[in-house]
Amino acid sequence: MTAAGADTRLAGKIALVAGAGTSAAGWSIGRASCVTLARRGAAVVALDAHLAAAEDAAHEVELAGGSALAVQADVADPDAMQAAVDAALRRYGRIDILQANAGIGKVGGPEEISLQDWDRIQQVNVTSLLIATRLLAPLMRAQGGGAIVTVSSIAGIRYTGYPHLAYSVSKAAVIHFARMAAQQYAADGIRVNTVIPGLIDTPRVAQNVARMFDPDDLQAAMAARDRQVPMGRMGTPWEVANAVAFLASDEASYITGTELLVDGGLTGKYA
Ligand SMILES: NC(=O)c1ccc[n+]([C@@H]2O[C@H](COP(=O)([O-])OP(=O)(O)OC[C@H]3O[C@@H](n4cnc5c(N)ncnc54)[C@H](O)[C@@H]3O)[C@@H](O)[C@H]2O)c1
Repeated sequence: MTAAGADTRLAGKIALVAGAGTSAAGWSIGRASCVTLARRGAAVVALDAHLAAAEDAAHEVELAGGSALAVQADVADPDAMQAAVDAALRRYGRIDILQANAGIGKVGGPEEISLQDWDRIQQVNVTSLLIATRLLAPLMRAQGGGAIVTVSSIAGIRYTGYPHLAYSVSKAAVIHFARMAAQQYAADGIRVNTVIPGLIDTPRVAQNVARMFDPDDLQAAMAARDRQVPMGRMGTPWEVANAVAFLASDEASYITGTELLVDGGLTGKYA
């Protein structure tokens, strides 16, 4: 029985959030997404490379009154992902939604980034999409449809002011992967879309900013990030999660192969 006024937009759906945890204490996009999807009625498979991070996200879902399963897997490891999908199917019997949220990066331009770092970033951010889609598309097709939401970055469509080459190139590929997959799977009822977050206030960003600036200047550096944005502030992980939940839901039933910018107007600023 559903409580009066409960949000049922994702009722009955099973959502796999890959990269469900957070790099440091606080609300990441994945952690906020797990809770947001659950608040709308989905059961959540919280997948992360770190079991504690997956368990923490699953715990937050349960605190919000939802159902969750925590699984540990590296999104770039096909065998681990197969095992994770098998575990999800044993528990819930189906998977309707994939949020491909795991993402890593390293600052540097062509002459700074090592080939090893380059390869790992492409594997985690891009090859992971191939691995997950190969596993889930046949399932979704057999179920009569599904929704895949990939998570890119404004770094995938603009230069963000410092060299972040491997990350930026990978995030551009995320967008195009989703566009291509959307075409291929449209007739199967599988929608594939991308959320493009702008400057979002997550623990990882605070850590990165702290690394790049004097710790005493952290507050000033974060305020400078706020000032860059036409809306005058960074976004919250919840604002990104809301966009993911929308694209994952039947409200977006005629939307596929496109991107939703969640950037407070930043990308349009000098366009
Ligand atoms: N925070 C921002 O400002 C921002 C902006 C644009 C895009 N994004 C993108 O949003 C996503 C989430 O960002 P966040 O800042 O919340 O990140 P975060 O680093 O806090 O969380 C990412 C989670 O993914 C997990 N992860 C990393 N590599 C993994 C792997 N190989 N396999 C499984 N799990 C793995 C990490 O353990 C972590 O729990 C990323 O794809 C990021 O690139 C973030």
